[in-house]
Amino acid sequence: MKKKIHDFFEMKNKREPITFITSYDYPTATFVEKAGIDMILVGDSLGMCIYGYDGTMPVTMDQMIAHSDAVRRGAPNTFVIGDMPFLSYQPSDQVAVENAGRFFKEAGVDAIKLEGGVRVASRIRAIVEAGMLVMGHIGLTPQSSSQLGGFKAQGRTLESAKAQIDDALAVQEAGAAMILLEAIPPEVSGYIRKTLSIPVLSIGAGLDCDGQLLIVSDALGIFEAFTPKFVKRYAEVAKVSTEALSAYCKDVKSGAFPETKHTYGMIPEERVKFEKWAKSKRS
Ligand code: KIV
Repeated sequence: MKKKIHDFFEMKNKREPITFITSYDYPTATFVEKAGIDMILVGDSLGMCIYGYDGTMPVTMDQMIAHSDAVRRGAPNTFVIGDMPFLSYQPSDQVAVENAGRFFKEAGVDAIKLEGGVRVASRIRAIVEAGMLVMGHIGLTPQSSSQLGGFKAQGRTLESAKAQIDDALAVQEAGAAMILLEAIPPEVSGYIRKTLSIPVLSIGAGLDCDGQLLIVSDALGIFEAFTPKFVKRYAEVAKVSTEALSAYCKDVKSGAFPETKHTYGMIPEERVKFEKWAKSKRS
């Protein structure tokens, strides 16, 4: 049964952790759904994890829609959230509503996510007023990492902790249905979890939240360029894949692949006719 937004509120109230992971493609989405994970984020982290960019800035709406659509098909019974890329909501409330709407109309997502607190409150309000579900995202917000001085944890001083709390309250007040806290100390995220009535998800914000998010490429050991402190690795897919591809390469070079079982035999009477015909051509 696909979970709906009220299920996540119920889970928060019962203190049942919500499981959340990113996905960018059809096959991975099928694995996530089979594993019974509650929510999928089609994150703009696909800029690094799929396209090999240095960051998320170059990611376009068209890329996000194409990947969200593939994920939707792979996980038809999982709550899917589309991540709004850089400059898809910053220019104005109108631009934000139009681009949020594309995720719902063209990719069939259940909600969208956008980064920021106080300063994007009017964008959140406009999207919610247009009838869409929004997840807020505060703390380390990668799209504004240059303003934050890099990919740095937030809320580590009293002043910064209070700013995170103000942002969280602004996101809830604007009508967001959920919020994601990235790279915030557990004392601060716990305070936010207790203060807000909406589900509070964590990526690198500790245990005292209503659920946990990981980037699938980190969790499965696919993306090896760098590994943030908050990652727990559950598989070594890059290592296993490289070993398998090396074995394939070796087999082709040595003639060990393909074997007879990997080829298509001719129909026996046709083979006799073919051999006779080929012989006549050679002589
Ligand atoms: O794009 C993404 O995957 C994200 C996470 C880093 C939270 O926004």
